[in-house]
Amino acid sequence: MNSNTGEAAFQSRGTFTEDAGLSTSPIPLEPYYSEAFFEQEKEKIFRRAWLLVAREEELPEPGCFVLKAIHTLDTSIIITRNPKGKVQGFYNTCSHRGSQIVTESEGRRRLFVCPYHKWSYDTDGDLKSAPDEQNFFFNKKDCGLTRVATEVWEGFVFVNMAEQPEISLDEYIAPLKEYISGVNYLGASSPIVVEADLEANWKVVVDAFLESYHIPSIHPKTIAETFSNQINPHARLLNSTPLGTHQQVSMFGNSGLKPNPNNRAEQLAAGDTGSVISAAALKDTEAFLAHPAINPTKSADWSMDVNQVFPHVQIDWGPGGFWVHHFWPLSASRTKYEVRFYVTEAQDFKQRFQQEMYVARVAEVVLEDLVNVKRTQRGIKNGGKKHIQLQDSEVGIRYSTSRIIKWVNSDTVREAIK
Ligand code: FES
Ligand SMILES: [Fe+2]
Repeated sequence: MNSNTGEAAFQSRGTFTEDAGLSTSPIPLEPYYSEAFFEQEKEKIFRRAWLLVAREEELPEPGCFVLKAIHTLDTSIIITRNPKGKVQGFYNTCSHRGSQIVTESEGRRRLFVCPYHKWSYDTDGDLKSAPDEQNFFFNKKDCGLTRVATEVWEGFVFVNMAEQPEISLDEYIAPLKEYISGVNYLGASSPIVVEADLEANWKVVVDAFLESYHIPSIHPKTIAETFSNQINPHARLLNSTPLGTHQQVSMFGNSGLKPNPNNRAEQLAAGDTGSVISAAALKDTEAFLAHPAINPTKSADWSMDVNQVFPHVQIDWGPGGFWVHHFWPLSASRTKYEVRFYVTEAQDFKQRFQQEMYVARVAEVVLEDLVNVKRTQRGIKNGGKKHIQLQDSEVGIRYSTSRIIKWVNSDTVREAIK
């Protein structure tokens, strides 16, 4: 773990990049627009890596299911919970003539009945019945739904789209697991979901959420004063932790920030965490905040941490809880983006108001970022530039990009995660 502490740390050039063993040279721009590179990302990354797709709370009871699109590979998976409570994933494709079985995004079923000829399957994917069964030539046992490797870690559901995953989820997330296991995910059963189709390469979007350098310029009226102050005017990072193929960056927060005295709503909405990106009371978050990976430098001036779960997810947390970004590449210049903000159940009117303000504020911030990524992609597409420059507090981008390139160039997953 490398960290910035004290005023001097925000003046001279930092050492995160070199400490992470990364080159300080400009980085290549081609992966941000090349269709050929996107094809490689699809095959070498998204078809081989474990992909975080859901929270277990989305399947609260046996029989509950969710349909999850794996946008990058143009497929969808039914995730079920069987009577014994086990979470499993199956391709949403009937064994008879290939129809989609489920079109709803979630629900509860004992049996999944294909709409075409009414074949039915149970929550373990086994074929239970087929009308006029005697007239077929099949062995019923061989006609279950096709399984997708599915594992759960601390409530996060991962799938692997390889026919035979090269490594287990356990091995895939080992360094991340060691670092962040045991986090108490507050409010995990009640997400507020924001989705968008973006005209930008997925890495442009991923990068926009991996650094705070842009916050004073892109978010001047919303969160600039939360992430910077006179001592750290450029919102430099507090900390950077490489975690194998994954990573964490920890962002500065202005602990001296007071709600605007001319804004009654902001004053009423200000929680005792002193942060506008939080809606929980401190007494409820004490245990959560005590975890060593949450605000890892335990700085009083902390706003949030970004945990990049390779390749396409970021689990973020701040003083009041957590939220999760999903970035699905659709092509070299299009991304399906989804963010889920988790809020605990409001205990009183004031907290409900704080949550409403929080969600309105973060939605506004995300919108500012999304306008910006489109402009960035257009600039990249203009041509002329072969490389981009990154400063030390943009180490997260450098780390992420170097890992993506490593996966594309690795013959095995074990080599890619090293
Ligand atoms: S395609 Fe599903 S029952 Fe025929
Ligand atoms: Fe932003």
